[in-house]
Amino acid sequence: MLRILVSGISGGIGAAFVARARLHPDWEVIGLARAPNGHVISFDAAWPNDRIAAAIQAIDGADALVCLHGADIVSPPLRQASYLDRLEALYRVDLAGTVKLIRAVLPKMKRGGVIVVMGWDQASAGMAGESAELYALTKGALTSYAKSLAATLEGQALVYVVAPGWVLTRWGETLSSESRRRLAGRTRSGRWQTPDQVAQVLESLLIRPGDYASGQVVYVDRGADVTG
Ligand SMILES: NC(=O)c1ccc[n+]([C@@H]2O[C@H](COP(=O)([O-])OP(=O)(O)OC[C@H]3O[C@@H](n4cnc5c(N)ncnc54)[C@H](OP(=O)(O)O)[C@@H]3O)[C@@H](O)[C@H]2O)c1
Repeated sequence: MLRILVSGISGGIGAAFVARARLHPDWEVIGLARAPNGHVISFDAAWPNDRIAAAIQAIDGADALVCLHGADIVSPPLRQASYLDRLEALYRVDLAGTVKLIRAVLPKMKRGGVIVVMGWDQASAGMAGESAELYALTKGALTSYAKSLAATLEGQALVYVVAPGWVLTRWGETLSSESRRRLAGRTRSGRWQTPDQVAQVLESLLIRPGDYASGQVVYVDRGADVTG
């Protein structure tokens, strides 16, 4: 049995990952969510460290941790917040929240376990606009953190960054077809990606964890960054 902890399980990519995981009878998914139901543990990435550690305490070992939670700064109410308030939200949820979660789960992680965090494929390429600046700042920092964490955990656990382009989840679904087309033209792949495409990449990392060196960025359109 492969026990996989997944945060952000209620999101678009989270739901697609759960659907993929159901194809594997030997996988057990334990979700982490702000509004828990069923086989889901209550978790808010903005909680203080000790509360996150307490939420994880009951889990009896993990083979993988897939961190899919992320603050949505492009939809209301955060969309209307100031630049610095949006930055603060991304810091609390995507950065500090991910670091706190990983550090809480690490003592439970089995040797050879897999940790996945979410990057963004424009983070190092650069894209104009306030949201792009803020996501680049956040996902770029998370990517750099993951690479150092991979070095720290060498021989103990594998760490990957999955870096999609724009994925058609909550926010993308609210856009007009014209806005979608314009945004797609500014991405690495030139098109919107589906949550299932991202879920397939996550699935493959868990099926064949040794395919990529620990610390690599895995793009959804063309696999690992050989330079990174
Ligand atoms: N969609 C894209 O274009 C895209 C591109 C690159 C990277 N990513 C990253 O991929 C990940 C998943 O994205 P998605 O498109 O599936 O997003 P989504 O549909 O907006 O879902 C976001 C998830 O994060 C959870 N979340 C938000 N704030 C949280 C908090 N404080 N504590 C715990 N959970 C929280 C949400 O839970 P609630 O249901 O409680 O709100 C939801 O499950 C995110 O890290 C995102 O930044 C997405």
